[in-house]
Amino acid sequence: MNARPRLLVTRQVFPQVIERLAPYFELDANQDDEDWPRATLLARAADRDALFVAASDRVDRELLAACPRLRMVATGSVGYNHIDLAACRERGIAVSNTPDVLTEATADMAWALLLSTARRVTESEHWLRAGQWQRWAFDQFLGADVHGTTLGILGMGRIGSAVARRARGFDMKVIYHNRSRAANEAELGARLVDRATLLAEADHLVLVLPYSEATHHVIGARELAAMKSTATLVNIARGGIVDDAALVEALRAGRIAGAGLDVFEGEPALDPRLLAVPNVVLTPHIGSATRSSRMAMAMLAADNLVAFAAGQPLPTPVAAG
Ligand code: DGY
Repeated sequence: MNARPRLLVTRQVFPQVIERLAPYFELDANQDDEDWPRATLLARAADRDALFVAASDRVDRELLAACPRLRMVATGSVGYNHIDLAACRERGIAVSNTPDVLTEATADMAWALLLSTARRVTESEHWLRAGQWQRWAFDQFLGADVHGTTLGILGMGRIGSAVARRARGFDMKVIYHNRSRAANEAELGARLVDRATLLAEADHLVLVLPYSEATHHVIGARELAAMKSTATLVNIARGGIVDDAALVEALRAGRIAGAGLDVFEGEPALDPRLLAVPNVVLTPHIGSATRSSRMAMAMLAADNLVAFAAGQPLPTPVAAG
């Protein structure tokens, strides 16, 4: 009988996921969720045939060079900008991700941030918790309407569509900008516009596009200046799509009304000036963090690994190997 392939699971996963993987692999799993320095990751990965990584693990040429046996990388995320796909393809390493299972939860989170930002939920809560609420007033924490306004979506993939679908309940006009026209545009009641129109007309702009060199700082000082001064911006996609330094300046100067951010450049570190800006809602990359979604993501990554071990086609490949 052939030896089982060796798998490294870099982050703590649900016990059911370990149970699913255990019959197929010789496992090294970081179930204590230790914060491995890069050198530890490289050393632990060195003799592995497969890796189960998270979006915070950089799978680059350095790591691949350290892993001569590596044949499969499964990421427990839909985003795969942390993986050098070209390098994996060159080496014949298969890569999988976790699409679909987090779409609805992530769209919910976009709305949580949109509503909290527009209606100043966290800002007013901090004020209340600080014991500053002495009396009610007509002009306390006036925010922006959400119902009946224009929702702009940059990037109309699965999550963008799910965000757009929810806008119906708020009687919103939906406009979007995308590389191509969305096939479900009519069903969504959404209108494709150019980027300049999107920026100029959106009352609430949600970013849902993958990160790549081409989308680096797609929202910078110029784009922020082109938005309505009453607009809100929501980023549930990836840090680096927004120029965080330019955003701080725009928020401070009142060039836009507020921002809801789940992702940051260089996270988990973030521009400390963001912490001092009141009109921003900050969450620690929890877009997909519901119990069922995170379980489904981890299980789908495991299903891909099991398929690899069994020599079967991967359920959700991004590179064939
Ligand atoms: C994803 O799946 O890409 C989410 O951002 C979690 O990392």
